[in-house]
Amino acid sequence: MIELKGPAEILKMRAAGRIIGALLEEFSAKVKPGVSTGELDLFARRFIEAKGALPTFLGYQGYPATICASVNEEVVHGIPGPRKLAEGDIIGIDVGATLDGWVADAARTYAVGKIGPEARQLIDATREALDKGLDQARDGNHLQDIGFAVQSYVEPKGFSVVRDFVGHGIGRKMHESPQIPNYGKKGLGLKIKKGMAFAIEPMINRGAYQVKVLGDGWTVVTRDGSLSAHFEDTIIVSDGAPEIMTRLS
Ligand code: MF3
Ligand code: CO
Repeated sequence: MIELKGPAEILKMRAAGRIIGALLEEFSAKVKPGVSTGELDLFARRFIEAKGALPTFLGYQGYPATICASVNEEVVHGIPGPRKLAEGDIIGIDVGATLDGWVADAARTYAVGKIGPEARQLIDATREALDKGLDQARDGNHLQDIGFAVQSYVEPKGFSVVRDFVGHGIGRKMHESPQIPNYGKKGLGLKIKKGMAFAIEPMINRGAYQVKVLGDGWTVVTRDGSLSAHFEDTIIVSDGAPEIMTRLS
């Protein structure tokens, strides 16, 4: 069952989304050489709690932190800690907030100082892939139109789409149905309807799509050690293009 969100629910998701949108903008200045991922995590926790919200990830299936901090070949679910960021790294920061029982979930990949052209191209392509994917979240489209848009944009550039992790419905819980792969065929999958809320989150590798989970039980890395980027937004299907809850502008 996919819950359709009406005006009252949309107001609540918007409020949760604004917290995450603002926090992700704050990180643009905070992410720099020498800062530790643990410091970024603490900042996020304080920011979310100061807004009267709860850090959605903390304690979720035993996850120990507020953010996921995934550096370079780490794809998603990197656990923050003492690791200090170095010039040239890229870092995906994924974070969720629950406000008044409603969840927003989003991620960006940031450059740490000056980065190389390979990293820059990957970040730009992944951000653009998210935009192409979420633009397909329109009433009357099919679910796989989203993944098709992502896949057909990044693969011609020589990048690959992670298969083992996908986007998801969202609302009262972080993970609701349906699952939203970042690959697919145009015109397949369920019919998208106005009021559906999705977290769309392409994870794109410079090398092959295969990933593995490290011994900590969380950190997902590329099998070939290639760089990976991740962008995510929480959106609501509306009239025309979707409303993006987790962006301020
Ligand atoms: N954006 C991720 C997701 O949708 C974040 C979950 S991390 C977890 O699955 F630690 F909370 F599980
Ligand atoms: Co998500």
